[in-house]
Amino acid sequence: MNTLRVALDGPAGAGKSTVAKLAAKALGVTYVDTGAMYRAITWKALQEKIDLADQAALTELSTRVKIEFQLTKEGQNVSVDGADITEAIRSGEVTSNVSAVSAVSGVREAMVKLQQEIAAQTGVVMDGRDIGTVVLPDANVKIWLTASVEERAQRRYQELVAKGQTLDYDQLKAEIERRDLLDSGREHSPMKKADDAIVVDTTGQSIEMVIEQILHICRSAE
Ligand code: C5P
Repeated sequence: MNTLRVALDGPAGAGKSTVAKLAAKALGVTYVDTGAMYRAITWKALQEKIDLADQAALTELSTRVKIEFQLTKEGQNVSVDGADITEAIRSGEVTSNVSAVSAVSGVREAMVKLQQEIAAQTGVVMDGRDIGTVVLPDANVKIWLTASVEERAQRRYQELVAKGQTLDYDQLKAEIERRDLLDSGREHSPMKKADDAIVVDTTGQSIEMVIEQILHICRSAE
């Protein structure tokens, strides 16, 4: 078994999932999207009309639901209690509420446990906000993937427009900034670069260039 463990953290829209998916494939390990887990809990909480200020209810929910990933040709599907929510967790409603849900310590405890269980069974490229600091503090490789907020907003804008959505660029940029502020300012395991993480700034770089850099870093650690 390839036991390489790569922690890939960084702010919203830095391209973590695209890079993590391709890197995991090239390295022969499992890609784990931890943001999808917090999004899944948020989606389920909205479905069940749970008050997002009710920390006890959110904690109970996160210990009760079953989150699963299924590998597909395109990447990965996410399900909660058997329901496929791959697309649903990318909605604007989930995106604007996920930071509040992920700030709850009980929710984090449940998700971190799940993430650590996965990494104990297989090699991983795990993307998130606290992987290098909290989830896998002894990962073989820690990368902090970032880009200017303008570029992150521009990429996300183009991605959503290509999917047929109509949206406002300035609003999208403000939403990314708001999410970064909430994620880095929260009390429990805030988004933070690990002291020993290597910074990869993707501003002005193509996906191919970024992947090449990441694979070089990972292969040097193998
Ligand atoms: O990566 P993505 O943008 O899908 O993450 C959605 C949200 O999930 C983040 O804005 C953050 O609030 C939360 N998250 C987190 N810790 C992680 C991964 C994501 O708090 N490890």
